[in-house]
Amino acid sequence: GGTEQPPARKWHFQGPFGTYDRAAAQRGFQVYQEVCAACHSLSLVAYRNLTDLGLTENQVKGLIKDISVPDLNDDGAPVDRPARPSDRFKKPFPNLAAAAAANNGKAPPDLSVIVKARQYGPDFIYGILTGYVPYDKLTPEQIKEFDVKKDDNFNKYFPGHKIAMAPPLSDDKVTYADGTKATLDQEAADVTEFLAWASEPHMEDRKRTGVRVILFLLALAGLMYAVKRMVWADKH
Ligand code: HEM
Repeated sequence: GGTEQPPARKWHFQGPFGTYDRAAAQRGFQVYQEVCAACHSLSLVAYRNLTDLGLTENQVKGLIKDISVPDLNDDGAPVDRPARPSDRFKKPFPNLAAAAAANNGKAPPDLSVIVKARQYGPDFIYGILTGYVPYDKLTPEQIKEFDVKKDDNFNKYFPGHKIAMAPPLSDDKVTYADGTKATLDQEAADVTEFLAWASEPHMEDRKRTGVRVILFLLALAGLMYAVKRMVWADKH
């Protein structure tokens, strides 16, 4: 059959009162940093934005102390200089052609807004990361229908099934700083939480504003009703 729809999961950030699970997002940042960042850029996020996730300014400075980024000097000549907290995350490849060349012709997409950009959002990202099926577990029908070769990566949830990304995660791919057991599921859920935060860091403000607006409108409706009763009251 065709591509499966990723199963719907419960996310901490769902719903009108949902917030990001900061601990999960911090673990997810560790996964991004240690695994995904080798291939995927996150070019809309700056290092200092990580203080939103609960990192201190000193932790952010520590994180970038060995990173140098391309810039121009006063004469307009290209130079490398130490990264600053206000810099966006450094890209793993200088340009799209280099990114594609290093990945069998398919450039890994930027992950800044991937959670927003793909149908089924976080369920899709989690689904991709956990949805690989090894060649020897495929049915002969699947192999035939999708023309799967031994070296292909078959993913249940990727449109067309064949994906240029080899399975990036597995049990114990990372050792979590907070001691959480790093199963494949845990890593996938955590990096999805992190990427959801990256795609909309001000979501919590937006929802808080929404709640205040509704409360204000309720109060205003009550006031209007009282005023209407007064204005239209029978005088005797
Ligand atoms: C594609 C996430 C690690 C290379 C994708 C897609 C996602 C993703 C969600 C699908 C995007 C779409 O729908 O178009 C991640 C995450 C990673 C990770 C969260 C870390 C846990 C890696 C690594 C590499 C890589 C380490 C390189 C060795 C690629 C490539 C594609 C891709 C080449 C394009 C696949 C295609 O279009 O067929 N990644 N990735 N990824 N990723 Fe990753």
